[in-house]
Amino acid sequence: MSEQPSSREHWGTRIGLVLAMAGNAIGLGNFLRFPVQATQNGGGAFMIPYFCALLCLGVPLMWCEWAMGRLGGSKGHGTTPGIFTMLWKHPMAKYLGLMGIVFPLGVVFYYNYVEAWTLAYAVFSATGKYFGIADVAGMKGFLSTFQGASSPLGVSLLGYVFFLITFGINVWILSGGISKGIERLANIGMPVLFLFAILLVIRVFTLGAPDPALPENTVVNGLGFIWNPDFSQLANSKVWLAAAGQIFFTLSVGFGAIQCYASYLREKDDVVVTGLSTASANEFVEVILGGSLAIPIAFAFFGRTETLSIAQGGSFNLGFAAMPIIFQKLALGQLLGMMWFFLLFIAGITSSVALMQPLITFLKDELGYTHRKALTATAALCFVMAHVVIFGLHHGTLDEIDFWCGTFGVALFALAETLIFVWIFGPDNAWAEIEKGAQVPAPRIFYYVMKYVTPLYLLVLFVSWTWQQGPAVLTMEGVAPADRVWRWGARLAMLGVFLGLCWLASRSKRLKELTEVKP
Ligand code: ALA
Repeated sequence: MSEQPSSREHWGTRIGLVLAMAGNAIGLGNFLRFPVQATQNGGGAFMIPYFCALLCLGVPLMWCEWAMGRLGGSKGHGTTPGIFTMLWKHPMAKYLGLMGIVFPLGVVFYYNYVEAWTLAYAVFSATGKYFGIADVAGMKGFLSTFQGASSPLGVSLLGYVFFLITFGINVWILSGGISKGIERLANIGMPVLFLFAILLVIRVFTLGAPDPALPENTVVNGLGFIWNPDFSQLANSKVWLAAAGQIFFTLSVGFGAIQCYASYLREKDDVVVTGLSTASANEFVEVILGGSLAIPIAFAFFGRTETLSIAQGGSFNLGFAAMPIIFQKLALGQLLGMMWFFLLFIAGITSSVALMQPLITFLKDELGYTHRKALTATAALCFVMAHVVIFGLHHGTLDEIDFWCGTFGVALFALAETLIFVWIFGPDNAWAEIEKGAQVPAPRIFYYVMKYVTPLYLLVLFVSWTWQQGPAVLTMEGVAPADRVWRWGARLAMLGVFLGLCWLASRSKRLKELTEVKP
């Protein structure tokens, strides 16, 4: 097995690593996706499956991914095609591992565009551009005009300019590499994110009941909606699927992005405590901060019924239509609005660079590309593919790619990695790998969780998904014929990316060497 090149980069400092990994996880999922998922799935009913998924899937998989990444990096293989092949010396392993490059790419194809909206709205808030639009319907109209719903190409000039700026910033950060690019971004961005989030939460908690005529519209009732468990919903498998999907998305497990960042650890670095700290930071930001912002404030201003209907009406309505109305009603609204959207932008960019990095690392590690060449190839692919989402946004291409890569794909990849790391590499080897260099040993119960519960949980999720929603999703039931063409286009484009990567992987000498070595 070829050894790690001595030139391989490492994280500069431990705090930089923790902030970068936290930035990888903390993203738009925490502030935009989580409140919408919680609202669409019954609030308190959602939180029980959510915590079950956190303990049975999120935490064990997070440890597996950190350990796999560190192991791979120690031999110069920072992405899952190489890591899977190290663990399972089979020619198929590298192709399975490619899921850990394709799925984060799929997500980033749309993620950069949404991130651009947050930057645009931060500017719109600071300049008061949407101030004067008095209701949610008006703000939805503003949002869809900005998204280009009425323009012939399906994209507005302003939206496109912000996309170019956002994309340029991503590429610029990635050009600095691990410690001078990603780590620096996290060192500056994450403290700002925490500060803005805490200030906004304090503002929300000091609101009381904004309309004395409607005393039941309060922040406390919004919090009650999330935190009062509704046990009657536990038999509904849709809620369990949604909760597991949210755990994958928010922790970035099943993406291949954690392995990639962890491959830049040193061989003896701890993963148990460090990994758990970043997952805990993510959960704190999602549940405590994310859960205390959009939903409670919307309950206080719009009441329960309208809040639920806003959230049901679309993934972005709560963040981009309801929140701007609220900012207009608050003192210092322009500043608060700017803080909210800039917070989203930081959350977004610290995740989007993490989703682009696996392809860069793959091209460098397995094909010997220079950093510049790998970044250029990755940026070119992401730029071109983002247009499938930009032009097809109003035909559902974002949802299509999100479903296959960000929901179904990550669960599938998680199942593959559990089987390869725990069952093929061996549960004792996997556990020893996690425990290596640990400052505090991981609780032994997780050995059994990762051996039995995690794969079984994933299997049950797949079976119930296939049973309940599979055929309807596959055949695009209820989708208008014009949108089907776009959605099929998005599916085929993703397949094309996957096949292209298969071709590259088949040409990699370093990957080939791995299967030639005796176990
Ligand atoms: N983990 C990232 C998020 O939550 C992808 O947005």
